This record gives sequence, C-alpha cells and structure tokens, in this order.
Amino acid sequence: MDHFKNPRNQGKIENADGVGKVGNPVCGDVLWFYIKVKDDVIEDIKWETYGCAAAISVSSMLSEIAKGKNINEALKIENKDILKGLGNLPAIKIHCSLLGVEALQEAIYDYLSKNGKKITEELEKAHEKNKKTLNNLHE
Ligand code: FES
Repeated sequence: MDHFKNPRNQGKIENADGVGKVGNPVCGDVLWFYIKVKDDVIEDIKWETYGCAAAISVSSMLSEIAKGKNINEALKIENKDILKGLGNLPAIKIHCSLLGVEALQEAIYDYLSKNGKKITEELEKAHEKNKKTLNNLHE
C-alpha cells in the first residue's frame, strides 16, 4: 500500500542508457523501465506504467531493489524478491510482479545490445518472449 500511495522512482529518464517496455495482453497494462548505467552498475532507475495498483507497487519496489546493483545482479531479481518486499500480493496479481521483472530485463537487454556487450542465451530468450507478448498486445 505504501509503495502504491508513495511510489518511489516514478517517471522517465531522458537519455536513458536502457529502456524496456513490456505489456500484458490479458489485462492490457503496459510498463516501461529506464536505467542509467555506469561501469555496469544501475546508477538511476525510473519507471512509468499504464497499469493497476499492483503494477505500481511492484515497479516502485523493484526500482528500489535494483538501484545500485550491477547488471548481472539485477538480472537475477525474481518476482518472489519483489513479493517478499511487498509482503505478498493476491494470487490474481502475481502476473503484475512478473511484468516488472520483464520490463527491467528489457531495459538491461537494451543497454547491453546498444553497447555491444555480451547477452546471455537466457536473456536473449526472455527478450524474444517479451517482444512477442508486446506484439500480441498491439495487434
Ligand atoms: S492487472 Fe495487469 S499488471 Fe496488474
């Protein structure tokens, strides 16, 4: 509730080093994450969403968890870490927490690919899946 009423790091980073956009075709919610990276560490992170209250709380919590982490650590954040931080969400809202993780993955993917850095097979697969889901949303 606190993260919904006082969301942390909400907004957009102009000239972000990585931007991730994901959507959920079932509920129609869309989420963006923006990251500023220095020496592979996430120095700043912001997000915007056309989403539900849970998506807002999740994005706020995730941005706090990810800030200051290096890229590899940030990629290991799972939705259960966010749920632990929030004190859990109702079962029907679990997909909202997945959306947060995917948006951050996409922002990191964007940063790595723009900078010619190595992308793991796992991240490449996640990116393909996220891209497909987003395309379905726009159809
Ligand atoms: S209902 Fe879609 S992100 Fe929460």
